[in-house]
Amino acid sequence: RRRRSASVPRADVVIVANRLPVDRVVEADGSTSWRRSPGGLVSALAPVMTAQEGAWIGWPGDVSADEEDLEPFQHEGMTLVPVSISALEYEEYYEGFSNATLWPLYHDVVAKPEFHREWWDSYIDVNQRFAGAAADIAAEGAVVWIQDYQLQLVPALLRDLRPDLRIGFFLHIPFPPAELFSQLPWRRQLLEGLLGADLVGFQLSGAAQNFIRLVRQRVGHKTHRDSVYLPDGRIVTAKAFPISIDVDKFEELAQSESVQKRAAQIRDDLGNPRRIFLGIDRLDYTKGIYARLRAFSELIHDGHFTVEDATFVQVASPSRERVDQYRILRDDIDRLVGHINGDLGRLGRPAISYLNASFPQEEMAALYVASDIMVVTPFRDGMNLVAKEFVACRMEEDGALVLSEFAGAAEELRQAYLVNPYDINGMKAQMLEAFEADEKELTRRMKAMRKTVAENDVDNWASNFLADLSAVRPGHAKQVKP
Ligand code: G6P
Repeated sequence: RRRRSASVPRADVVIVANRLPVDRVVEADGSTSWRRSPGGLVSALAPVMTAQEGAWIGWPGDVSADEEDLEPFQHEGMTLVPVSISALEYEEYYEGFSNATLWPLYHDVVAKPEFHREWWDSYIDVNQRFAGAAADIAAEGAVVWIQDYQLQLVPALLRDLRPDLRIGFFLHIPFPPAELFSQLPWRRQLLEGLLGADLVGFQLSGAAQNFIRLVRQRVGHKTHRDSVYLPDGRIVTAKAFPISIDVDKFEELAQSESVQKRAAQIRDDLGNPRRIFLGIDRLDYTKGIYARLRAFSELIHDGHFTVEDATFVQVASPSRERVDQYRILRDDIDRLVGHINGDLGRLGRPAISYLNASFPQEEMAALYVASDIMVVTPFRDGMNLVAKEFVACRMEEDGALVLSEFAGAAEELRQAYLVNPYDINGMKAQMLEAFEADEKELTRRMKAMRKTVAENDVDNWASNFLADLSAVRPGHAKQVKP
């Protein structure tokens, strides 16, 4: 177990996540710096933790860090505690078990999950290391909040080390129905890992129900509604806490002069078409990027509009690039975009502007403001914060959201143009309807969605979770102010 250096204060609130909120990057000149980590989890939790003066335990996003780089340090009001992962663990725990076993399994088996016993062993080892680091830094009676599918064994491992703690777990991705989860050779161990928590949070109530049913079936505990009754008298609660975004921050960005100017510039650069379609995703096979680009290209091909009328900007940020399925996807999208632009583009007027890169939040906000129709079409997605960010940025209450019914966000954003991403014709019809909708209709929809997003922002999400966590074992641990 890593030793806690004397200077690092113990914390009353501890986040444990696979990634730190910042990634360590080595510059060309050999110096190192820190950059904000990718993905929805970090965007959601960073603003919450800054207010808490807590500790955040995570991997610095780089396997080459030496001992010195792995000392805890202060960042935006919290203590960051780096946990190292070896090159082999990166392959087996991160790329392997987390992202080639659990990720596809939990996303409806959109790709075929691979089951390898060495990957599982590595997953146990790394989870043990995270649990040890949490046990070291948590103050007596502290609240420890463990995040996401990479760390599902940590709740039970940590409870063994520190029974005094109040332990919460939140799964940011979907939790699959029993029929799919049961493929996993280590299904029972994973469920028992999660049951180490006092409160297990999911994006949707359907996921919580899947979990409760599996616990009953596979572990044999008694359950009633959202509670699991363990033989030792402990009660574990499983509930939905739909995650959200920092609404004020996106509104502020959207209104800022620099973002407004940049948005105008983007429209200009794209040749001021009547409508700009926008997709922003990690380059992931769950996101339905291929299907949506095909649907768009067919609308042009069928003569509904021309490349002068409409253009599609697709930002796909590189992700998990050495995992086979991601490599295949990248090649498929490269080929499709080339094909579509070759067929339908004109000089200076590609049908699709494809950017395989990640951008800072300001640039994303400018894209949200500059575009007319945001297209979010995952085959399965825990929530999808991009959909909520787009809505938050539409201060004029205009613009359309085309949204997959298989994204968690669809449960809240009912006024989106909802689509089944497996149904290309259905998707074309909704994209066309969004393209042709009059202003009044767009405003009616956007107004309602803006209200929904404003009512449940990320602060709300975190305080709801922490309040429930304080309530599940009253009197046992210190109260935390959400
Ligand atoms: C999703 C997951 C996060 C993950 C993020 C980025 O949002 O829920 O846990 O951090 O994707 O993926 P990566 O593999 O780069 O951490």
